[in-house]
Amino acid sequence: MSESTEPTIATPSRRDLLKTVGGAAAASVLTGVAIPDVYAAEDNTLNIALIGCGGRGTGAVGDALSSHVGPAKLVAMADVFRENLDSAYQTLVNKFSAKIDVPEERRFIGFDAYKKAMDCIKGSDVAIFTTPLAFRWVHFKHAIEKGVNVFMEKPLTGDGPTSKRMLELYEQSLKKNMKVGVGLMCRHCEARGELFKRIKDGQMGEILMLRAYRTAGPTASAFSLKNPGKVSDLMYQIQRFHSFLWASGGAFSDFLIHNIDECCWMKDAWPVEAKALGGRHYRGDYIDQNFDNYSTEYTFADGTKLFMEGRTMTGAHQEFASYAHGSKAAAIISRSGHAPSRARIFKNQRVSDDNIAWRWRNTKYKGKAPDFEKSPYQLEWDDLWTAIRENKPYNEVKRGVEASLVTSMGRMAAHTGRVITYKQMLECPHEFAPNADKLTLTSAAPIMPDKNGKYPIPEPGIKIDREY
Ligand SMILES: NC(=O)c1ccc[n+]([C@@H]2O[C@H](COP(=O)([O-])OP(=O)(O)OC[C@H]3O[C@@H](n4cnc5c(N)ncnc54)[C@H](O)[C@@H]3O)[C@@H](O)[C@H]2O)c1
Repeated sequence: MSESTEPTIATPSRRDLLKTVGGAAAASVLTGVAIPDVYAAEDNTLNIALIGCGGRGTGAVGDALSSHVGPAKLVAMADVFRENLDSAYQTLVNKFSAKIDVPEERRFIGFDAYKKAMDCIKGSDVAIFTTPLAFRWVHFKHAIEKGVNVFMEKPLTGDGPTSKRMLELYEQSLKKNMKVGVGLMCRHCEARGELFKRIKDGQMGEILMLRAYRTAGPTASAFSLKNPGKVSDLMYQIQRFHSFLWASGGAFSDFLIHNIDECCWMKDAWPVEAKALGGRHYRGDYIDQNFDNYSTEYTFADGTKLFMEGRTMTGAHQEFASYAHGSKAAAIISRSGHAPSRARIFKNQRVSDDNIAWRWRNTKYKGKAPDFEKSPYQLEWDDLWTAIRENKPYNEVKRGVEASLVTSMGRMAAHTGRVITYKQMLECPHEFAPNADKLTLTSAAPIMPDKNGKYPIPEPGIKIDREY
């Protein structure tokens, strides 16, 4: 994952960092926690606390530890499922051995585990939030109290009230000079960045239309059967978070946000309203809250359209791509998944490899192929670490909330059958999990099944003020 062709930058010592970054937090007194041994040493290693030890959490730690930008160590882990934490720990130890310093006393289980894990770090260290989105604001609030830097995964919010809360927290985190990365990693892609510059330089004319597709088979935990009863409803819903709007914003928010975000980046604006269609074609015994197809028309203030199609259906056409159309030419923003982007501009509106006007060329990574693109998952960490070590302003939360809100706006338009504006989405009072900060391992779930094990689902045209 790390690039051997890049030099390690000169890094300030831990003492220098604590002086310049999060000074107030660095001075705070830690009580009742085992502080990692690395604190005793005067070196420039930064520490990581992982909260949410699933697939992405394990991957994010891997990217953080693989960065060429100075040394780091994982020192604490938190999850609500012991087996997930154990499995992530083993995977990481196998791969990074010496960089994993998480003895049993710094492995925490439960809904308050995040506090204990963050108590093991301070100052310029980083907390990683890779739980489902429902807990983002809860965890971010605590990070702000402690003044530690954060990397948090997308989406950041799934509803209006938590979006407002996160925007308030963002302001607080700015005041504390916290560095906060958000896992919309495509924004760090060098090829997409070059495409954006070329759009700004006018190579494509004015952007008039964007379109994106994420049409696949059943994905992740978006389809769920009745809880078989081995765990409580709350824990079942957390395990299968793509199925429940309170936990993840559902398949729409979780899967479509990247394509929506990269299109909005190229337009350099957020849409002001959305209208959308969607439905549940083949649901069998599935009890989740998702539609299996979504078609959304976003409108920007200048009238430009963004069309986003999402589907999770076996046997239908599959595509995972984003395109921009300008008054002079079309472009591929991403062609097949997130990376590599294969960004390119065409001579006119014909999107075809025999019609290319510009394509990304690697001039930076020696020994790599001409079309090599460094992983955006790695780049987002290189950028965050650099900002921390050089104490540069770096906070992606506002943009992350806006991307999440625009995504929710499309989802709510599909689920209610109404045109939804950005302002309506932000002002919508329906908070999906108002007690996310109070949940315990024995709490009732934010949404409960009926006697048949089924959950309320959106009904466009019938339920119009809220999604379920
Ligand atoms: N940027 C990307 O490309 C990308 C890719 C995958 C996932 N993600 C995002 O990462 C997040 C996690 O996704 P995942 O695929 O790793 O899911 P996952 O289920 O594999 O991991 C989530 C982990 O968080 C734990 N968890 C849940 N609630 C918790 C809480 N309150 N406190 C502590 N731990 C808790 C779960 O037990 C689980 O181990 C999601 O928001 C998802 O959208 C982003």
